[in-house]
Amino acid sequence: MESMTDAPIKITKTTASKLEQVDFSNLTFGKNFTDHMFVCDYKNGEWQTPEIVPYGPITMEPSAKVFHYGQAVFEGMKAFKDDNDDVFLFRPKDNLDRINKSAKRMAIPAFPESYFMEGLQALLNLDRNWIKAGAGNSLYIRPFVIATESGVSASPSSSYRFMIICAPANAYYKGEVKVLFAEKYSRSADGGVGYAKAAGNYGAQFFPTSLAQAEGFQQIIWTDAKTHEYLEEAGTMNIFFRVNDTLLTAPISDRILDGITRKSLIQIAEDKGIDVQVRPVSVKEIVEAAKNGSLKEIFGAGTAATINPISGFGHKGETFDLPKLESSYASNFKKELMAIQYNTKDDPYGWRHKV
Ligand code: COI
Repeated sequence: MESMTDAPIKITKTTASKLEQVDFSNLTFGKNFTDHMFVCDYKNGEWQTPEIVPYGPITMEPSAKVFHYGQAVFEGMKAFKDDNDDVFLFRPKDNLDRINKSAKRMAIPAFPESYFMEGLQALLNLDRNWIKAGAGNSLYIRPFVIATESGVSASPSSSYRFMIICAPANAYYKGEVKVLFAEKYSRSADGGVGYAKAAGNYGAQFFPTSLAQAEGFQQIIWTDAKTHEYLEEAGTMNIFFRVNDTLLTAPISDRILDGITRKSLIQIAEDKGIDVQVRPVSVKEIVEAAKNGSLKEIFGAGTAATINPISGFGHKGETFDLPKLESSYASNFKKELMAIQYNTKDDPYGWRHKV
């Protein structure tokens, strides 16, 4: 069945929903995808009419530039449902702005706001039943752009595909998360692409992370590439440290992703009157704080991970466990953030976007 929305989006609905086959009580993050996907091609210097089609494989030339040069960027966002069956996105315009910032760095053309917002709206309307109400349930939304031009010359593609796929989700990390402070490998460098959600930023972490995992750590906290003396981000999350009652997090830079959860938490913490210091955070001060007992918490903040407490960290062969707190910043901020996301309290910031 085909139809057109107000915006020029051509919609082809599936005739065979997979919804009944999914066990929502036992989801693995990012494994089950909804019935539809959004697709928009760029050619002849412009984005073509977007389409929503049944989720499924796509066909590409083996010589497509994305396979050879990794010219690809992506986003992570979530939709939430309240008890009245209303669906909300969280700060979606920020995701569009960020994918276009990432795209610029990777020589990919910007995607128009109206296509993005109306595409999301139409896609979520179609796949609405895939979003379950209740704290912790969400729909993870993955917009991405890939270079589709065939040809292995090392130059920007002249054609691209922008897509949005969606996966019902609950927790990203199951179980406790211990992190290793990076000493040898680096995630990003000055002048590089660390601030962009470029696909290769993530693939490049897999090998060092697998080494950390073999030592019993789930993630790495990346340090600055020059000195390895400053703690930057975890690759799937920005990182916060609580020393006594002060909250510390690294400033965004060329090397660090401008996380939407990160900036939301900074705002929430500041509005609670907490001393938030956005400044370089040294390995030395955190190790010292762990030794003298003033390090109360470390937690990650990201769309997929939400707010994830870290139970301990490793550094130069030593392991430090963090105290188990009755009332942590991490759980308080998470409660506050989720109340806005799930529409159980007012949204003084205008972050919630009703679909
Ligand atoms: C997100 O939090 O949405 C991310 O993009 C991290 C991802 C690698 C799961």
